[in-house]
Amino acid sequence: MCGIVGYIGKKQAAPVLLEGLKRLEYRGYDSAGVAVLNPDGGIEIVKAKGRLQVLSDMTDGGKAVKGFCGIGHTRWATHGEPSENNAHPHCNDEKTIAAVHNGIIENYIELKEKLIRRGYTFYSQTDTEVATKLVDYYYKKYGDRLRAISEFALRVRGSYALAVIYKDLPDTIFAIRKDSPMIIGVAGGEAFLASDVPAILNYTRTVYYVDNLQIARLEKGAVTFYNLDREETSMQPVQITWDAEAAEKGGWEHFMLKEIHEQPKVIADTINSAVHDGEIDFTEVGLSDKALKKIKGVVIVGCGSAYHAGVVMQYVIEDLARLPVRVELASEYRYRNPVVNGELVIVISQSGETADSLAAMREAHKNGLKTLAIVNVLGSSIAREADYVFYTKAGPEISVATTKAYSAQLVAGYLLAIKLAKVRKTVSEECGKALLSELCSIPEKVKELLNSKQEIQKFASETMDRSDVFFIGRGTDYAVSIEGSLKLKEISYIHSEAYAAGELKHGTISLIEKGTLVFGVLTQKGLVEKTISNLEETASRGALIAAVASENVSVESTGIKNVFRIPLTDMHFTPSLAVIPLQLFAYYLSVLRGNDVDKPRNLAKSVTVE
Ligand code: AGP
Repeated sequence: MCGIVGYIGKKQAAPVLLEGLKRLEYRGYDSAGVAVLNPDGGIEIVKAKGRLQVLSDMTDGGKAVKGFCGIGHTRWATHGEPSENNAHPHCNDEKTIAAVHNGIIENYIELKEKLIRRGYTFYSQTDTEVATKLVDYYYKKYGDRLRAISEFALRVRGSYALAVIYKDLPDTIFAIRKDSPMIIGVAGGEAFLASDVPAILNYTRTVYYVDNLQIARLEKGAVTFYNLDREETSMQPVQITWDAEAAEKGGWEHFMLKEIHEQPKVIADTINSAVHDGEIDFTEVGLSDKALKKIKGVVIVGCGSAYHAGVVMQYVIEDLARLPVRVELASEYRYRNPVVNGELVIVISQSGETADSLAAMREAHKNGLKTLAIVNVLGSSIAREADYVFYTKAGPEISVATTKAYSAQLVAGYLLAIKLAKVRKTVSEECGKALLSELCSIPEKVKELLNSKQEIQKFASETMDRSDVFFIGRGTDYAVSIEGSLKLKEISYIHSEAYAAGELKHGTISLIEKGTLVFGVLTQKGLVEKTISNLEETASRGALIAAVASENVSVESTGIKNVFRIPLTDMHFTPSLAVIPLQLFAYYLSVLRGNDVDKPRNLAKSVTVE
């Protein structure tokens, strides 16, 4: 996510802004910039691609930029490649207004077209430049800075934490937020604004958490709040008790737990990025309905959890769109000299930099195949070289073990499956609408699961001494099992295997001993009875059995005593719910074992080498 900061006070602003941005580096970024109101009355903007150090070196640690009021930004690219031109702050043509923004303006194209018709030109690809010029448009129209902000909020759709400075009002920052975080601090004749608490903890622990659609006016040592009708409103500040490191995690103990809890929003954002007026639209991906209709086969490649997401997609796309789908480990596909037959190759990668996945994509291109990248990092290598790109909206994922990005990849797969099924008419119009409507209910169902994590936490504490854990399932329940097993082993270091439940009797069951923990995933109607009997076979050989099961799966009169229920949903989407207890199980076991949850031994977040 982007990070924004603002400062007004008796210090030179730029060094304070840079320090605040440094505290927000954990949010992930690819460029940065500051805008300061100079004593001579101008707005000075300095921006740089790359690390914050580049910007600091350009400005001698901020000392070269004079002025007591300014805003700053670290950009996590969502619209437009990482570049100096696209970096924030953005400004109007006369450089009398500058702004920074964290969020996504969903209707920025429509607004940009309206502003162009009113004579505006644009130098960047960003939605933020559009936002800045929209504020400029309303300031020119009404001559009222506060009204310019409120009119902006009434016109845009999406999420924003927006901070604006006006050249003709040197000691004031205006700000407004909707769905993107913003906090404000006031102390000792100074005022601070930021996306998150760590940026201002060195100056104050008394913080205002700005409400949605609340406007703030910051001046030296004071802040005034307004509603959208521009009536003053009052706010109570909060006393922050966290230390800086804990604050980076927003009060969560680990980034992984924070990111697990971000999944409802990430799933909703990823759905919303490709659904307009109730229809799945892959225009921005680059795939028209005509192009989708021409697809005769799909090969999915990825590594680790990305591969596991591909296994889910294989079941869902084949079942809904009746299209042949093959899923392969990228590290195998790249060397296999595959027989090709015009398939679309889908490359799944959170980082967009995984060496094996990039090589597999290049192999596909060598064979004359078109590629669709499902990636989370805008402008990453895989995104740049793919023919089509679907960007997941998971934001930066800090923890090495992926959770929210994996969930976003699943959503991308569901959307593609429903879209393919509709263009190929393998599902009816109303079935397609029903599937999309059910998909939109997943974020709330994930939230419901996260509110009842105590049971799985207790089970983890009861089973923390197990040396072997098996996960089994059929169909997409098998696909979830492999992801649950990977989560467990990569952060708890407990040996774990995942098997298609039907495979146990072909050798693996010989590994079952007294005390082996066997987790069954039970969501697929017509398959769960078989998996339950597989679980009971392992129990008769001494295993401790447990299950993640849909609410309508009966386990009465079975030996399964430890059941973790997930809400009912369409059978294609159960992986998004079944994986939640398994993510939490792995997390709690890692914590109980005293491991470095976010940075497990021997692992890197992105494996850019072979
Ligand atoms: C998942 O928890 C692991 N960190 C790892 O398997 C990861 O999914 C894999 O390395 C692929 O990374 P990518 O999605 O960035 O390509």
